Amino acid sequence: MNPTILAIESSCDETSASVIQNGHVLSNIVATQAIHEQYGGVVPELASRAHQQNIIPVVSQALQKANIAKSELDAVAFTRGPGLLGALLVGCSFAKSFALGLDLPLIEVNHMQAHILAHFIDDPKPSFPFLCLTVSGGHTQIVLVRSHLDMEVLGQTTDDAVGEAFDKSAKLLGLPYPGGPMLDKLASTGDPNRFPFPIVNMDGYDFSFSGIKTSILNFVKKNTAADPDFVEHNLADICASIQWALIQTLMKKLVLAAKEQGIKEIAIAGGVSANSGLRATLQEYAPKHGWNVYIPAFEYCTDNAAMIAMAAHYQFLAGDFTTQYASPDPRLKV
Ligand code: KG4
Ligand code: ZN
Repeated sequence: MNPTILAIESSCDETSASVIQNGHVLSNIVATQAIHEQYGGVVPELASRAHQQNIIPVVSQALQKANIAKSELDAVAFTRGPGLLGALLVGCSFAKSFALGLDLPLIEVNHMQAHILAHFIDDPKPSFPFLCLTVSGGHTQIVLVRSHLDMEVLGQTTDDAVGEAFDKSAKLLGLPYPGGPMLDKLASTGDPNRFPFPIVNMDGYDFSFSGIKTSILNFVKKNTAADPDFVEHNLADICASIQWALIQTLMKKLVLAAKEQGIKEIAIAGGVSANSGLRATLQEYAPKHGWNVYIPAFEYCTDNAAMIAMAAHYQFLAGDFTTQYASPDPRLKV
């Protein structure tokens, strides 16, 4: 069976649709919702409304770009969770109606598993078992991936996600939303050793990122009291120093997990895997630790439906379908 699947992603602020045929991504349309910029973060109700407006044009474009007629589809997939409930509901309801109308089976996909399976869209593909550092706006996890659909979370954040730490640090520095990519850009010209920020070491493979946020807040308060233009005058160095501390925190646990699990196939996934500092650090560590590293193409780091389609492909082959009674799960676990 060479399935042709339409996949829909609507967990946060990207409305996306993709068509995959026999494991090859034919289209991946992503509509990013600009409306949240003016609020400095994602507003859940506005996200739901924007998904409703975007979903039909995005799906039409995905089918058109793939040159696939609705009659050629074998299944419809959607993101079940984790994510924002109202946002997930739009994708789930649309997928169910679309599948019902065409009498097609439905596949529900775990968004975090899909981030990891984005590594199977292009070459080179990691071989099993591999470790994946999954870093996004809502998650920070070290995952042991035994096969396409068999994954175990070995460690995770006990408070904020690293993407959240990037975004909140950027906000404290007065940078516009979304802060992560902006902080990354400014960091590229700064000195990462100029200011010391804490590198938190939790037990086992777990992480904590709430402390660094407080330390940045105190750092900004203290220094702007003495010089109101302190942040503006030292912005690149502050960004580079924050980014360095966040990356070191991640790498410490990744090195420990790789060593203890005896695994040298190492991947990163999720929105923060677009970070240039993290990508460079991973490349740097590879020869030192004898790792083969896998870094997704930029378009597959942040939220997209191609990764949902890739997961759906493997679920289709495994016969893992759901029913018209399916509902979103905002806290779905890997
Ligand atoms: O995976 P994603 O698109 O959505 C979630 O599932 O959360 O990840 C979004 C997160 C945001 O926190 C965003 O700031 C961060 O990924 N991000 C970055 C970069 N690009 C996106 N963080 C640091 N550097 C980047 N270049
Ligand atoms: Zn995501």
